[in-house]
Amino acid sequence: MTLLNRNYPILKWAGGKSRSLEYLLDYFDPADVFVEPFLGSGAVFINTLYPRYILADTNVDLINTYCIVKEQPEKFIEELRPLWTLEMKNKEAYLEIRDEFNREPFTKSVRRSAIFMYMNHFGFHGLCRYNSSGFFNVPFGSKSDKVHPLPEDKIMRFSELSQKADFYCQDFEKTLEMVPDNAVVYCDPPYAPLKPETFSSYTKEDFDLSDHARLHQAVVDLVNRRENVSAFISNHSTDFVEGLYKDATAIDYLMVYRNIARQSDERKEVKELVATFKKAGKS
Ligand SMILES: C[S@@+](CC[C@H](N)C(=O)[O-])C[C@H]1O[C@@H](n2cnc3c(N)ncnc32)[C@H](O)[C@@H]1O
Repeated sequence: MTLLNRNYPILKWAGGKSRSLEYLLDYFDPADVFVEPFLGSGAVFINTLYPRYILADTNVDLINTYCIVKEQPEKFIEELRPLWTLEMKNKEAYLEIRDEFNREPFTKSVRRSAIFMYMNHFGFHGLCRYNSSGFFNVPFGSKSDKVHPLPEDKIMRFSELSQKADFYCQDFEKTLEMVPDNAVVYCDPPYAPLKPETFSSYTKEDFDLSDHARLHQAVVDLVNRRENVSAFISNHSTDFVEGLYKDATAIDYLMVYRNIARQSDERKEVKELVATFKKAGKS
């Protein structure tokens, strides 16, 4: 699949695949359904063209926001407009809005989703982080005194592309159980640690080595259970990951520049892999 007109996500997201998009799209053949159990920013989804999509993530605010953008894009833009101003781009205003967001956690509304996108853009490094009680706790983080125009086009485009998608807030195993025959599945889990002592945390729950093993097994079971399903997993290339995916149909490598420490601008080249899983005998 080639990239003709690139579409851009509406949210910044840790581990977003915008930079390796051209490389990744080459893997995806035509199918009836495209499935992403670890949706994040949706950078991959919005640059593909399939008849139907099954899209999921465990981050409830993320999934609620996509549902709102799918169903009520104009209302969403109108709610976001007064937040997307220079007057709202300061620590006091940000903290007040963040308090409002935290007053009613785990609810779904146009207002809450607009605040989620505001905090994603005006908060520190676009991080999405919650404390142990589930309250969003990313500090204010914008350095410049300019405000980019409200990305109405991106929101409308995301909404348009979402009309063929069903969004789910759930663990990847449930999503993989929903995969029908004739599907392409792209799994982009939180990275396995480069060093054993580091870990990835996107939502309140961490994604640990046992989750990586659980994902590998669920993908192997899926391609054996279904007809004509190709599944791909992205990850760091580490000894643990290489050992886990040793039964993959193929493994390819790419070097990517990434912000290694999430709270800094420091970038480093790391080796990533894409593991392909297909039923034995399928090329
Ligand atoms: C590396 S990010 C995906 C980035 C995405 N490909 C993009 O381009 O933005 C991993 C995502 O997995 C989600 N996640 C973490 N644990 C999960 C689980 N058990 N099941 C499903 N999603 C999970 C996180 O919320 C995060 O959005």
